[in-house]
Amino acid sequence: MALRTLFSKKAFTTASGFRPIAAGDRCFLRQARGLTVAALPDLAYDYGALEPAISGEIMRLHHQKHHQAYVTNYNNALEQLETAVAKGDASAVVRLQSAIKFNGGGHINHSIFWKNLKPVNEGGGEPPHSTLGWAIDTDFCSLEALVQKMNAEGAALQGSGWVWLALDKGSKKLCVETTANQDPLVTKGANLVPLLGIDVWEHAYYLQYKNVRPDYLKNIWKVINWKYASEVFDEETA
Ligand SMILES: [Fe+2]
Repeated sequence: MALRTLFSKKAFTTASGFRPIAAGDRCFLRQARGLTVAALPDLAYDYGALEPAISGEIMRLHHQKHHQAYVTNYNNALEQLETAVAKGDASAVVRLQSAIKFNGGGHINHSIFWKNLKPVNEGGGEPPHSTLGWAIDTDFCSLEALVQKMNAEGAALQGSGWVWLALDKGSKKLCVETTANQDPLVTKGANLVPLLGIDVWEHAYYLQYKNVRPDYLKNIWKVINWKYASEVFDEETA
């Protein structure tokens, strides 16, 4: 998975005990006495730039509150894990696994989701061409058929979760998967690379679409960043 999806370049102050590391072109990590932690990534667009498909109010809350909470809770769990490992506290190590999976998954998934969106006036919603477009036609017959399949599976997903367009690196085929809660796509298979993930948690749409998830799914395609999905596809199939 591309590390650029996971970390942002916001730096901690030196007084915090954190310092930036590996500030390369695609990943921005930090260390706290040897512990690498996550940070909330910046968005490449304004919160209101996806309207009317997704309201600015939803985007602001989703990014600043929900995603930030996953980051904070993931980092807290990592710190506790580090302490538990140092103490040899096996019970605590095991107890922390669910928090790490849930919050770490939330961070992974949302970091991808923001990159899967793009304002219409910047190319959002423009269908994929070239290699990804051909692969979609081959594996799903058409883009319309793929959208219909993802909308149907996203609408049918019980409770909270995600619907994904994935590349299976082993077979080089595209597939549609769903994951529950904040499980990242990798929990469905180590070969699966997320090209496009759609958040179907209520916090992603309820303020605007109320309980009508299918309307949210119908409209989100107007702001999908197919260029990003195509770039990941090309990187992974090169
Ligand atoms: Fe979300």
